[in-house]
Amino acid sequence: MGSLIRSAALDASLCNVTWSDGHTTAFPALWLRDHCGCPDCLHPETHQRLVDTFSLPDDLTPQDPQVADNGRALILTWSPERHSSRYDADLLRRLADGKEPTDPVAKTLWDAATLAEEGLGEVPAEGFLSDDDLLAEALTKLDRRGFLFVEGLDPTPEATQAVARRISYIRETIFGGFWDFTANMEHKDTAYTTLEIGPHTDGTYSFDGPGYQMFHCLAFEGTGGESLLVDGFRVAREIQERAPDLYRVLGEIAVPGQYLDHERGVHLLAKRPVLRHDSDGALIQVSYNNHDRAAFLPDRERLEAFYEGLRLFHRLANDPAFQMIERLAPGRMLIFDNWRTLHGRKAYQGKRRLAGAYINKEDVESRLRVLQLKGAV
Ligand SMILES: [Fe+2]
Ligand SMILES: [Zn+2]
Repeated sequence: MGSLIRSAALDASLCNVTWSDGHTTAFPALWLRDHCGCPDCLHPETHQRLVDTFSLPDDLTPQDPQVADNGRALILTWSPERHSSRYDADLLRRLADGKEPTDPVAKTLWDAATLAEEGLGEVPAEGFLSDDDLLAEALTKLDRRGFLFVEGLDPTPEATQAVARRISYIRETIFGGFWDFTANMEHKDTAYTTLEIGPHTDGTYSFDGPGYQMFHCLAFEGTGGESLLVDGFRVAREIQERAPDLYRVLGEIAVPGQYLDHERGVHLLAKRPVLRHDSDGALIQVSYNNHDRAAFLPDRERLEAFYEGLRLFHRLANDPAFQMIERLAPGRMLIFDNWRTLHGRKAYQGKRRLAGAYINKEDVESRLRVLQLKGAV
């Protein structure tokens, strides 16, 4: 257990905490005072910071560090304030290691070959809807691979909504929230036809692109219409290995996406790179929809590389070696991470009824975090 404190000593305005594994972390005084967890500084019910960070005295000095509770806590007193602070060793260590309150799920990249070997890992509807441990397992699977099949649902819109509500709430969009459709031109989008749709992500025109999408098959009589998925992170890794320069360009150039419908008075417009990274350089979102790309002129020096990068991305996403192709039969649901997994559909003949919804990224993460803290996984 590395998160027990062995000793603590002051060094000017630093408090050096030595852990039971021999590691030492230097915590600055201002940071420690700002993170006091006492009920005057952190509201015990709302968990909101009450300490007035910017009114703390300039000559703030920690005093008398004590290791308490067999290494599970650190106690400090402060001068010139008369204040005592107690810190949870576990929390200090997680923060020192750059971790969040719960560990993120490690992502497993996939392609056609790995899926053929490992299977789809479908989960039964029953457990998903009634058992928190099984829900946690299912959401972990969803996070790990970026998609999840739920089997054996009633082929009804009520069942679709029950799954969405079991996770969180349905996201409202310009198309409404929960949807239930057969092919018609109710909206100005290819999704409402029977044509083939190539792999893409939804909402490239939204600042906060939909985090997750659900497709639940309610009825199908006909041929074709298979769903197609691509692991965008797997494609990104392939590009990084084959053409690091193109990978960089796809990570740098912000591409505008738009949804324009003058009749309804809607003009959505948002920009982000095809491969979006966080401040540590980790890939966090793939956004790609060539049809919804708005007009823009990349700078001269990178224009050719941009098109080359986009072409490579498109080619790989349309290569069967990177695709999963699966039929959605009535009662079968596909949920996928729209920040990672591209989706498409084969053309079909006949009648198909599909229901679904978007759920926000943060709400799925929240649900899983709560289940993790409860010890369900
Ligand atoms: Fe779509
Ligand atoms: Zn306090």
